[in-house]
Amino acid sequence: MRTETPPLIRLEDYRPSAFLIDRVDLDIRLDPHAARITAELALRPNPEGDADAPLHLDGDDLTLVAIDLDGAGVAPGDLTVEPSGLTLRNPPRRPFVLRLVTQVDPTANTKLMGLYRTDGVYCTQCEADGFRRITYFLDRPDVMSVYTTRIEANREEAPVLLGNGNPVEAGPVGEDRHYAVWHDPHPKPAYLFAIVGGRLGKVETTFRTMEGRDVTCAVYVEPGREDRAGYALDAVIRSMEWDERAFGRAYDLDVFNVVAVSAFNMGAMENKGLNIFNDKYVLAVPDTATDADYAAIEAIIAHEYFHNWSGNRVTCRDWFQLCLKEGLTVFRDQEFSSDMRSRPVHRIGEVRSLRARQFPEDAGPLKHPVRPNAYAEINNFYTATVYDKGAEIVRMLRTLIGGAAFRAGMDRYFADNDGTAATVEDFLAAFATVTGRDLSAFARWYERPGTPKLSASGRYDPAARTYTLRLAQILTVEGPPLVIPVALGLVGAKGPMTDVTCAAVTDGVFILDRDEAELVFENVAEEPVPSLLRDFSAPVRLDLSLTDEQRLRLLARDSDPFNRWQAAQDVAMRLILDPDPARAEAFAEALGTFLDGEALADPAFAALVLALPTEGEAADSLPSDVDPDAIHQARRDLRARLGRALRPRLERIDASLSSGKEAYSPDAASAGRRALRNAALDLIAAGDPQAGAALATQRLDAATNMTDRLAALATIAQIPGEAREAALTAFGERYAQEPLVLDKWFAIQATIAEPETLDRIARLKAHPAFSMTNPNRVRALVGSFSMANPTQFARADGAGFALVADVVKALDSTNPQVAARLLTAFGSWRRLEKNRRVAAAEMLNRIKAVPGLSRDVADILGRTLK
Ligand code: ARG
Ligand code: ZN
Repeated sequence: MRTETPPLIRLEDYRPSAFLIDRVDLDIRLDPHAARITAELALRPNPEGDADAPLHLDGDDLTLVAIDLDGAGVAPGDLTVEPSGLTLRNPPRRPFVLRLVTQVDPTANTKLMGLYRTDGVYCTQCEADGFRRITYFLDRPDVMSVYTTRIEANREEAPVLLGNGNPVEAGPVGEDRHYAVWHDPHPKPAYLFAIVGGRLGKVETTFRTMEGRDVTCAVYVEPGREDRAGYALDAVIRSMEWDERAFGRAYDLDVFNVVAVSAFNMGAMENKGLNIFNDKYVLAVPDTATDADYAAIEAIIAHEYFHNWSGNRVTCRDWFQLCLKEGLTVFRDQEFSSDMRSRPVHRIGEVRSLRARQFPEDAGPLKHPVRPNAYAEINNFYTATVYDKGAEIVRMLRTLIGGAAFRAGMDRYFADNDGTAATVEDFLAAFATVTGRDLSAFARWYERPGTPKLSASGRYDPAARTYTLRLAQILTVEGPPLVIPVALGLVGAKGPMTDVTCAAVTDGVFILDRDEAELVFENVAEEPVPSLLRDFSAPVRLDLSLTDEQRLRLLARDSDPFNRWQAAQDVAMRLILDPDPARAEAFAEALGTFLDGEALADPAFAALVLALPTEGEAADSLPSDVDPDAIHQARRDLRARLGRALRPRLERIDASLSSGKEAYSPDAASAGRRALRNAALDLIAAGDPQAGAALATQRLDAATNMTDRLAALATIAQIPGEAREAALTAFGERYAQEPLVLDKWFAIQATIAEPETLDRIARLKAHPAFSMTNPNRVRALVGSFSMANPTQFARADGAGFALVADVVKALDSTNPQVAARLLTAFGSWRRLEKNRRVAAAEMLNRIKAVPGLSRDVADILGRTLK
């Protein structure tokens, strides 16, 4: 069996369903190997659908036990059952009830889609198309139904039984079983269905909504881990409050449950009233979770909760519209986190991750529009482009129309589309209606793949006291121009030039909606430095040539924190790509002045200024012939130089931030102090590895929380020697019973930039805590290697590629979704220098030769090789 390129599903082929399902009654009997699902589906022909169509219900890996229609049997000649579903050739052309009994094996379900069992807990994952692995169904998001779910299980095995909506009834069944009934009054698509059954502990509290509804909010975790669930529960409450305040959205059920499970393909899932989480994004105590973990938990709890409106109350008509819920909800969770923490610091973090993940995706073979127009496997489209670029589009829309109009448009969107399955057009229509504006040109952002380039150049005329700025947009695909909001200002020797005027700029923003434009600033008293794309007002690559001196003026004087940070990044990037000792000294001096002036006033920001562009970012800035070793060496040299030049200051920072004995708190200010102190440690070590190893060892011993302990371990891990091996061994032993901590330990070792790392990974694959069936373990060890160890993954001898390719092949038959995700690490292979390129192609072709590849892997592979 040879793997074919899987067929494409196209947006232009969208047709309404021929049938609708108004009501679903489920009776689910949980059993480790033979779960029985009885589904009663109240069907009727869709007035908008094809009146003569047969009834085709999707199915995947199901055993059909029984079927009847309005209480009578179905004639065998009328029914076809295939692996992809069942078809009724002559369905009634009036409302009818179909009763289906199916059987599945939750323990054997290694794909973690549909109903599965992990560490003894039954749970479900139905987005995008997992419900068809539970029963036969019209498994598409525009078919919305009211669900009542009865769950029955052994009481010992599953004392807790949870479903969507509100609990209505519970009780014993015979000697050792029991049941619970849940009813969800809100019509929903099948992808939002969920149940959980298991032995679980919980923490809970109540929240009163602005509408006066009392909601019982609970977070369920493995028994004994309840003390690790408090932060997540707190984040739930803060999310509920915030969505009322910021968007006027209240919660709409009597209960809101979050459940942490140990094996989960993605981060989390917004099932109605029953969010199911990867436990990595729930469990936190200071001894096991870092500041970054706390921030991620807060953000993902918020994200899934916010989906209750942006995703659940208003869902997507089809999967091409995925950004309608994901881009919008990422934007909402970013705003939430910005309000909870430091807005500029958070914005810099968002942009760093956009550049680390989305820019390379948009520049490589897996590029696609934020709203794709065709897909072979939808699970491969939960991408940085759909999520993060999707969020950037919403942010630009707000910049374009202003905060008040944006809020009015959101209200309108929710009001007009509540209870429906909507499209990107419906979203934009709400904003067009409230502003009276034509947003059709803006809508091109959804259609156009590739990161646009914004090229800029300026000319100062001292006699006329004018500054002329030329802006041009260069797109990666032909077509009419995009609408690019460019937030900007001019910066003089003493700071922002507030007296200058420019007719084309409103509230500090120029809207570039043509291929190019020329802006004339008047009353410009001295030659300015332009500060463009403030707060990263559009997801573009800025091409503006400034001298280091001009950039360092922005670092010192700009009012926009993002561009201050960006200026330091730009200087550093140039020094990585084109090393120059004299310029590096000047950079060090400017950083020194910056640190003296304000490091302690805003430590989180200072830590970001000290963090140089990553090796990945440097690679992404080169068009071809990327040599990861050269980039690594150049970046290392620059860091060493900065570490030496700044040493006294870094030591002062280290000393003045040394935490006393106060208790750990995950708040942003405390986290910022830890971040700066750990950045200082890492830079000291870059300049003087000997001293760095000694200091890091001390810090490792003295650490009172995982943030400091892990930072010290990460520093020491890049310095070969006894101290490193001792530290790694001790850490591994100390946390032998903590899988989520061992994941960090796996990741740190997988990202050591040394050839021996391959052997290390081979040894770690045999570690008792490692498991190929747990996605977190695989991502920690192999995903980190492929995504964050460029010199070893892209080794010229091909051994790094081979390591990842072998895991992809091994995983494909058990968990194709995770296998396909791992494979995306090859996305930039064509831009590598020749030897590495040849080696990558060979490995990709070896995967291709495997017979019977999953659609997930075949799709990524086909596009990567194209
Ligand atoms: N909707 C989830 C989220 O909030 C992601 C689920 C994706 N699952 C999948 N199998 N593709 O982001
Ligand atoms: Zn989401």
